[in-house]
Amino acid sequence: MSSHEISVTVNGAAASGTVESRRSLADFLRRELGLVGVHFGCEQGACGACTVLLDGASVRSCIMFAVQADGADIQTVESLAPGAEMHPLQEAFRRHQGLQCGFCTPGMLLRSLELISDNPNLTAEEAREGISSNMCRCTGYQYIVDAVLDAAAEMRAEED
Ligand code: FES
Ligand code: FES
Repeated sequence: MSSHEISVTVNGAAASGTVESRRSLADFLRRELGLVGVHFGCEQGACGACTVLLDGASVRSCIMFAVQADGADIQTVESLAPGAEMHPLQEAFRRHQGLQCGFCTPGMLLRSLELISDNPNLTAEEAREGISSNMCRCTGYQYIVDAVLDAAAEMRAEED
């Protein structure tokens, strides 16, 4: 199995490593860099638990090879609250009970961040459609949609 040197920016910091060709980006982020907010669910691209942002766009890191991310700017859920304060999205999920077990939450948060970044004025229908890429097995999607809309409003207010 051939190995490759890769260099990425992860949550604002440079990182590098040697990866086998077949190693997934999820495995590299979680096991090599210790970013345990990258969750392994189905590991076949169906559930979205492993979602990260790659150059601002959500990807399923379980079905992407680490070597494909060479040179990319990656954001994991750990980037949302680098200090003591939670990100408005995290705060809204807490307020609206948009999580129970929390397994889907890192992926949901990053997908939601992408949706709001792309369209700060998104509607409930657009939020619902947008998060349909990610599965939640215990919360119910209504609370998550409520949280996304509330966070979007809060983020718009912060912009003003
Ligand atoms: S773990 Fe990657 S999509 Fe399910
Ligand atoms: S909060 Fe449990 S799977 Fe979504």
